[in-house]
Amino acid sequence: MKNNKNIYIETYGCQMNISDSEIVASILTNNGYHYTEDVLLADIIFVNTCSIRENAEDRVRKRLHYFKSLRKKNPGLVIGLLGCMADRTKTALMEEEQLLDLVAGPDSYRHLPQLLEQVGTGRRAIDTILSVDETYADITPVRLDSNGVSAFISIMRGCENYCSYCVVPSTRGQERSRDATTIVRETRDLFEKGYREITLLGQNVNSYSWKDADRIISFPDLLEQVAAVNPLMRIRFATSHPKDISNDLLQTIARNHNLCKAIHLPVQSGSNHMLDLMNRKYTREDYMERIEAIRNIIPGCAISTDIIAGFCDETVEDHRDTLSLMEWVGYDAAYMFKYSERPQTLAADTLADNIPEEVKDGRLREIIDLQQELSLASNKKEIGKTYEILVEGKSKRSDSQYFGRNSQNKVAVFTKTLSGPGEYVMVRITGVTSATLLGEVV
Ligand code: SAH
Ligand code: SF4
Ligand code: F3S
Repeated sequence: MKNNKNIYIETYGCQMNISDSEIVASILTNNGYHYTEDVLLADIIFVNTCSIRENAEDRVRKRLHYFKSLRKKNPGLVIGLLGCMADRTKTALMEEEQLLDLVAGPDSYRHLPQLLEQVGTGRRAIDTILSVDETYADITPVRLDSNGVSAFISIMRGCENYCSYCVVPSTRGQERSRDATTIVRETRDLFEKGYREITLLGQNVNSYSWKDADRIISFPDLLEQVAAVNPLMRIRFATSHPKDISNDLLQTIARNHNLCKAIHLPVQSGSNHMLDLMNRKYTREDYMERIEAIRNIIPGCAISTDIIAGFCDETVEDHRDTLSLMEWVGYDAAYMFKYSERPQTLAADTLADNIPEEVKDGRLREIIDLQQELSLASNKKEIGKTYEILVEGKSKRSDSQYFGRNSQNKVAVFTKTLSGPGEYVMVRITGVTSATLLGEVV
């Protein structure tokens, strides 16, 4: 079935999108296409897009204009848009700006070979219909841009939480879980290929639920099964929604050495007024109670978060509530954003995006500055401790050094040893920056 067409895929957005690109590469290489990492060799360019904030979409548009310019030298070049922008922007980008030959939404990737054939006959192709049951469960992803040590496994698709600011429920549709057997099989397969760390992906992994022949498999059940594949395989997951992270899950993590002691628990805001407008379904107090549960059940667990600055109606007091909560938790790491209004969200329909840009910028800056201090403080506590580090590869800074991570997901840099990527070494931490631990192998 070989055809001599080269496909190139560029990915924007979250880990889920990276995982999706690997599914796309698998579907296409199984249909005779060849995957290339060099855009100039491509016959077909796919851009797997993200809609989460306006600047994410702007970046994609710019890239599409560049790709369009490549058609001057390569008139047959096919440009396709995948992912979360597909449905929202297909008319504008395909018809008005003539940037695209093909558009496929997140649940349409099985149809890509047919859609490409359609383009081959001179017709444009669009398929952005969302599915209620597509999970690509049977598809073995082609690992792209891989270090051969860590990989993503998608365990769910879609989201039905309808946080008022968020575009994901509209771009990715209904929540659905993937067959647990296929997740365990994929984990085993990765282990046999030498991988030693997987990250299970879903927008809200705590609501994972799969009905087996005789029982319902919950997320903690799934974690137990995946952890049992091999004690040398580390397991991470993202993302947990604070409203349903259970003690059962925390106890499961505490019980299993290879379930990593790092929890990403996006808080978004420390103010109850904001949390209510955001439709997050928990209060500041609920969140603090969950943090205490993590600290009690999993001592030494790292905690990271996502924060949005300048959401609708946010007052200085609301903003201070966010800063004070950050300090109270003492986050090890955070992803911090300025609110960006998205079409087809509850907030866009019912709330005013009324915080001036410069105020948003100022608040975000304060949040970032505080997190920088918290990350440094968190890292300083590591000096003198010894951690089991999974080696990932050579350090960017120096050929004579390796880097890897501890269970808490902190990056450590240390002098090369005989043990290489995919192996575990014990490293004593001797120095830190706000981003990295520096250490020596013991
Ligand atoms: N499902 C995950 C998050 C997915 S999006 C969860 O619920 O945590 C990743 C992060 O992007 C969110 O946690 C939020 O902090 C941020 N985000 C989402 N929509 C946004 C918007 N409209 N403006 C700014 N940041 C946003
Ligand atoms: Fe968006 Fe909320 Fe779903 Fe996360 S849980 S993807 S923030 S709607
Ligand atoms: Fe991910 Fe962006 Fe879509 S964050 S789910 S690719 S909107």
